[in-house]
Amino acid sequence: MDGPQRNGRSPPSRGKRDRTEMIPAQASESQPIPVEPKPLRGKPYEKVVQVGEGTYGKVYKARNREGLGLVALKRIRMEGEKDGFPVTAMREIKLLQGLEHENVIRLHEMMVSHGSVYMVFDYMEHDLTGVLNQAQFHFSEAHLKSLSQQMLSGLSYLHRKSILHRDLKGSNILLNSQGILKLADFGLARFYNKKKRNDHTNRVITLWYRSPELLMGETVYGASVDMWSAGCIMLELFIRKPVFQGSDEIHQLEVIFSMMGTPHVRDWPGLGGLPWYELVKPKVEYASRLVDMFGSTISGPGLTVIQGLLEYDPARRLTADEALSDPYFVSELPRPETPSHIAEVKGEWHEMEAKQDRARKRHQEGQALAAEAASQTKQA
Ligand SMILES: Nc1ncnc2c1ncn2[C@@H]1O[C@H](COP(=O)(O)OP(=O)(O)OP(=O)(O)O)[C@@H](O)[C@H]1O
Ligand SMILES: [Mg+2]
Repeated sequence: MDGPQRNGRSPPSRGKRDRTEMIPAQASESQPIPVEPKPLRGKPYEKVVQVGEGTYGKVYKARNREGLGLVALKRIRMEGEKDGFPVTAMREIKLLQGLEHENVIRLHEMMVSHGSVYMVFDYMEHDLTGVLNQAQFHFSEAHLKSLSQQMLSGLSYLHRKSILHRDLKGSNILLNSQGILKLADFGLARFYNKKKRNDHTNRVITLWYRSPELLMGETVYGASVDMWSAGCIMLELFIRKPVFQGSDEIHQLEVIFSMMGTPHVRDWPGLGGLPWYELVKPKVEYASRLVDMFGSTISGPGLTVIQGLLEYDPARRLTADEALSDPYFVSELPRPETPSHIAEVKGEWHEMEAKQDRARKRHQEGQALAAEAASQTKQA
């Protein structure tokens, strides 16, 4: 299979700048959030270990001192925030408060400790980036179908609630040891109006998961931008590495075109009107290689759903509900099966541990090479 070569790499970071650039000056966004950080009575949580390094804070695994189990504490970085509480954190909290679904992370409460503000979440042992980087996790087609279905169910719930996630990627999709998947990281999420044209920033979604219309400058969009990312992730679940690994916006489009085929106005009527179309329009005629490349790894019905999620024209791209009602999930065998067997896998794997593990292996390889070179010099 001649897929992307850079297995194990992390997508280029969106970076903190992008998060601040996308904050529109809307009146509703400066309203105080109706969240009262819980006043501390003693210290309810004991930090166990750091599990994540986010754009605006660290994430810790922590234990409830009253024996009420594990939580994740996401610390909100306040340094350098001249204007008080960061607006992105405010938005994340505000959105999360109204959400309750098995496949969406639950915000338990807010907490203040030593001048830091923390969001308290369900603790999840893994994220998809961590899991897919570890060969010890084995998934059958039924398991992968379940993971895809759980991701789509979470998305269907968000879109029903008029929320765009806008940053779907492996490290923002969490998995617990019972095999339950939850969408997390609502730092870029926002409400959208289904009936009105919504003019938003196009500088959202980590490059590898960003849809072609966003890459071509579209600012009027809805749930379909999340569905493109969902297509990328569903494919990634099967081949265990990100599929479209571009190094910048133009290259990202080239990588997509070379795998999905060159888009044409006849299939995507809005293509020619996209703001940056003239600048970035395809120069080479490619045919789709999706089936050639993945037909031996993914079943026909599975590829049909992926193809529907990666449809160029956002208007024709599958919605989460359409994908969920596809025969692939509803009637085709194998039936989806929750990957509860991962409870037996040793360790907890998030993007951070996966990165540390890669660095450790690189270091060991380097040491082995140095030792070999030293022994050859000695012999000579
Ligand atoms: N509830 C949780 N349980 C376990 N680990 C978690 C939890 N929430 C987040 N993490 C880990 O911490 C990492 C960073 O968290 P999150 O994505 O919410 O932060 P962020 O600041 O928005 O990050 P970024 O902007 O880099 O995506 C996640 O990728 C995940 O590995
Ligand atoms: Mg994140």
